[in-house]
Amino acid sequence: MSSSYMSWRSSASNRRPTQPTNTSKNRGTIYPDLNQDPTPKPVIHFLAFALIVFLGLLQFLPASHFRHPSDPHRKWVPFNSHSSPSPTVKLTVDEDDGLIHIVSWMQCLDLKVLAVLANSTLSSSRYPDMLHFHFFTPQGDKDKVSFYKLKVLFPHSNLELHGQEKVKEIIKRASSEAEYDSLNLEEIAPFIIPSVHQSLTKFIYVSPNLILMGRIEELTGIDLSAHAAAAAEDCSNRLNSYVSSDVLDAIQRSASKPWISVTPYVKDACMPDLSLLLINGKKLEEFLEAVLWWSKVLNWSDRSDKRNPAIGLALYNRYLKLSNSWLVKEPASVDTIETSMITHYDGPKIVCSEFGNDTIPGSSHGNLWIKYLPSMSNQILGI
Ligand SMILES: *[C@@H]1O[C@H](CO)[C@@H](O)[C@H](O)[C@H]1NC(C)=O
Ligand SMILES: *[C@@H]1O[C@H](CO)[C@@H](O)[C@H](O)[C@H]1NC(C)=O
Ligand SMILES: *[C@@H]1O[C@H](CO)[C@@H](O)[C@H](O)[C@H]1NC(C)=O
Repeated sequence: MSSSYMSWRSSASNRRPTQPTNTSKNRGTIYPDLNQDPTPKPVIHFLAFALIVFLGLLQFLPASHFRHPSDPHRKWVPFNSHSSPSPTVKLTVDEDDGLIHIVSWMQCLDLKVLAVLANSTLSSSRYPDMLHFHFFTPQGDKDKVSFYKLKVLFPHSNLELHGQEKVKEIIKRASSEAEYDSLNLEEIAPFIIPSVHQSLTKFIYVSPNLILMGRIEELTGIDLSAHAAAAAEDCSNRLNSYVSSDVLDAIQRSASKPWISVTPYVKDACMPDLSLLLINGKKLEEFLEAVLWWSKVLNWSDRSDKRNPAIGLALYNRYLKLSNSWLVKEPASVDTIETSMITHYDGPKIVCSEFGNDTIPGSSHGNLWIKYLPSMSNQILGI
């Protein structure tokens, strides 16, 4: 023990004196270098500094090119080139994720109708990879089979299925059973969805039975900050065909509610077309209350035979009017197909009923839908 200790000490004490000689030897080799260090002229200092400042200032020039995050080739696209996407479309979509959210609600699941809606929208868009579909279906995200069938057809699309319970619950809690039954869920749901899905604040709602032929991204440049919604006016459907102007005048005189128009109601005002809407979730306070109030005041739950004008009345003076080209046209003639942005789905579809949800048999279908659902795709979806 002691010998090993001694040897350690001795080796340590032996080592110690060597250190100063080493460092003094090193120092001797370093000094000549330091002495030779060039002293640059002040002009060089200044030029180097100016170069750094210049490179730094380049950062403040406006960007001239951009790359789309989902472009596999990460190609640089100039901002002001005419053949490329106009960046204003992209930048006004949604501050958060830059996607165009397209929402639809379907009472009985009909995959063909959804596939035609998705494919016509994707095929007509210049930026299909910016579209994000949210389909609200009875089974929602629990229905994996339907989800994968749609994913097989559109592997590169952003597509989600959502359940309907939470939205239905909100409406049920606010209304009586008769009122609930008098509402068309496909019409009221878009106004309730933002309170359930906080990430969906600005979106485009499309009724499922549509074929889109216009570029949906054109709708995203519209400034909706002052309005709850935007819709096209449907002048084949006027206010006085639902409610007489005497009744409206009486209501306006006697009731005071924030959603009653201050100016007299125009008795033959065109109703909004609820099949395609731009929704601003931040401006929808009291909307459901207003719709239920109008239903009640007009006794609409007693006359379930007719379409309920309550949503149109709640939107009166509160929606931005979209250009007439976004009004849904009948797929009647070839001319209207060529000029319209949007038309009704013309294929076979499943009709909800208590006795069984069946495809309408033997009705005369158009053939526009086949373009967006070729027989190969139709087979993948099955029946
Ligand atoms: C609704 O029903 C109530 C009572 O049944 C009636 O007094 C009122 O006039 C009705 N309103 C309309 C708009 O028909
Ligand atoms: C019809 O569809 C609805 C919703 O998808 C469902 O709740 C109902 O059970 C279906 N009816 C039949 C008979 O399949
Ligand atoms: C989508 O529609 C286009 C025609 O616009 C068609 O060529 C294509 O096959 C369709 N895609 C699917 C998955 O059906």
